[in-house]
Amino acid sequence: ATERTLSIIKPDAVAKNVIGEIESRFEKGGLAIVAAKMLHLSREQAEGFYAEHKERPFFNDLVGFMTSGPVVVQVLEGENAIAANRELMGATNPKEAAPGTIRADFAETIDANAVHGSDSPESAAREIAYFFEENEICPRG
Ligand code: CMP
Repeated sequence: ATERTLSIIKPDAVAKNVIGEIESRFEKGGLAIVAAKMLHLSREQAEGFYAEHKERPFFNDLVGFMTSGPVVVQVLEGENAIAANRELMGATNPKEAAPGTIRADFAETIDANAVHGSDSPESAAREIAYFFEENEICPRG
């Protein structure tokens, strides 16, 4: 089925100037960018977005990293978009990411891992609504 997923190009990838190369992976992988904006997240925005990780030991570093520079938040649409995006990204830890995936090619560490992608239909719905109004999303049809 056609799905939408929330994708973030993280501060490390923006700083490396590889936004276009990453977008190209999504497009070549059959996903369409149907909404996008560049933001420098506030602490509140980052904490709210990652609320489910609040009790994890890496939460403070995660929020610090995600607020360290601009990010691109976007909605990707396509067939099985949630799983398709996760396949294109590769494993959370770049050292475990399969060759040819975004994290294998552009990321160095589990914290600075280039991209985020929703992990389920429920988190996709929540994460898309966190950053976008419905009228900011332009379905490809
Ligand atoms: P992301 O998909 O954005 O979701 C939470 C982020 O926390 C994850 O990518 C990693 O960048 C970061 N992180 C740091 N340490 C860990 C860990 N041990 N397990 C999972 N995520 C981690």
